[in-house]
Amino acid sequence: MHVLGIESSCDETACSVVRDGMEILSNVVATSLEEHRRYGGVIPEIASRSHVEWLIPVLEEALSKAELSYREIDLIAATQGPGLPGSLLVGLSAAKALSFAREIPFIGVDHLHAHLYACLMQPGPPSFPFVGMVVSGGHTALFWIEDVHRIRRIAETQDDACGEAFDKVAKILGLGYPGGPEVEKRARAGNPSRFRFPPPRVQEGSLDFSFSGIKTAVLYQVKDLPKPLTEKVVQDLCAGFQETVIQTLSNHALEACRRFKAEALLVGGGVIANQALREALEKRFVKENRQVLFPPKGLSLDNAAMVAGLGYHLYRKGLHSQLDLGVEPLGVN
Ligand code: KG4
Ligand code: ZN
Repeated sequence: MHVLGIESSCDETACSVVRDGMEILSNVVATSLEEHRRYGGVIPEIASRSHVEWLIPVLEEALSKAELSYREIDLIAATQGPGLPGSLLVGLSAAKALSFAREIPFIGVDHLHAHLYACLMQPGPPSFPFVGMVVSGGHTALFWIEDVHRIRRIAETQDDACGEAFDKVAKILGLGYPGGPEVEKRARAGNPSRFRFPPPRVQEGSLDFSFSGIKTAVLYQVKDLPKPLTEKVVQDLCAGFQETVIQTLSNHALEACRRFKAEALLVGGGVIANQALREALEKRFVKENRQVLFPPKGLSLDNAAMVAGLGYHLYRKGLHSQLDLGVEPLGVN
């Protein structure tokens, strides 16, 4: 079965053709990141306009790379949310129009679930159930995954998302956007013990996250330091901040696996590009005889292969969407 995936939730316009939920025939991504960089964050209006401009060329390239025509597409899967409403609308509307015009079934897919499904798009994945963790610029959440169509959110951030905290700390320190890679680069050369930032406190027993406190602690620490900050001080601040964040993410993920008796964790979202986070998760999970699965290469950032892959499995479970399906900007589930 050939599934055409369409993804447009943020600043990437992506289309992909996937065979039977696993074999990626094409995976084309166009990004408007460069246009947002000078504003220090994604500007929704720029993102939407860029999707309008790029969707058709990306779609045509995805089909041509897969060497398929519309006639050979059996299902169209598009991201329904969560994401920027104006951006989501471009991809979702295109998917519906194609579905209607070509009489191809259509299904709306949750973007966060798709990020988690990406971890299973590699040979020999372990079987359900899993705990899932999404750490991106807009989301930080844990999921209990019993099957592709039975995914429940068990924790989320009460304030800033994890990537957002990286971006804000980078801004406080005068580093570039996106902040995550900038902070990671400095943290590598820094001493995490020089400035210590307390782990966030949430309600006793809760698996929820909170990142605005650490970000504010960095801000106050910077206010107390002589200016301009030396490169060494910036490195040590980054290392201290990153260490607390990594500790927090791994503690919560591990605790969720213990509580739900899950042997494996699926992780997705932009922040998992962070090498120190990957290593810490792997080390702690191996120690407890548990497994961490990351997305294979090319499927970590926003892409449509993960959308097509998950769409295939949902369809096989008997699910599909009607053409009146609306976008889900907040991603309630
Ligand atoms: O998933 P993503 O590409 O976009 C959405 O938010 O949907 O995630 C982007 C976020 C940004 O906040 C960025 O700073 C963060 O991921 N990020 C990182 C790293 N690379 C990207 N955070 C920490 N370390 C990194 N190496
Ligand atoms: Zn994403």
